[in-house]
Amino acid sequence: MTPSPSPNSSPTAIKSHIDKPIVLVGLMGVGKSTIGRRLASRLGMPFVDSDDEIEAAAGMKVGELFEHYGEDYFRDGERRVIARLIEGPPKVIATGGGAFVQEETRELVLKVATAVWLNADIDVLAERVSRRDTRPLVRDLDPKMVLTELAEKRNPFYSQAPIHVQSGDGAHDETVDRILEALAK
Ligand code: S3P
Repeated sequence: MTPSPSPNSSPTAIKSHIDKPIVLVGLMGVGKSTIGRRLASRLGMPFVDSDDEIEAAAGMKVGELFEHYGEDYFRDGERRVIARLIEGPPKVIATGGGAFVQEETRELVLKVATAVWLNADIDVLAERVSRRDTRPLVRDLDPKMVLTELAEKRNPFYSQAPIHVQSGDGAHDETVDRILEALAK
């Protein structure tokens, strides 16, 4: 077994210690994609976003998939895409907010990857989510209300991730630093 690098190790030292994919989970608006991309670049690892991969495979936006085929169809595609992404050389994977709630995906991620729960206050999430209208679960609804309900239902699942990191309304790089610290431990 490779010895753990010390908490203040450089990203390169941490990377040499990483032999599993890093999977970011958490509610929409928390910054999984932005933070994931930065984390991957700091670690010199590839980055993939499961929603982008679903859209590429389906040739359709997530919103259109929900609208034309329904949420169950989307979830099925999401499950298959994440199972594919998790294979191969380690990478950073940002997942859609509902992915880790699905039992099959959650069990797979917990078994073969390092899951990181990114969490933030509901007000921060609601403000970020209301900037875009691409998310079918909040379209035409009050984002704060939807996110409060989702947090209640989903936090028990997200909390099963071995690493929990709080993302404030400050710079995303601070959150990346916190993830790197947690990974080094
Ligand atoms: C969803 C979150 C979205 C996307 C879809 C469903 C959810 O991803 O997968 O709209 O169930 O929370 P983000 O978490 O990247 O917004």
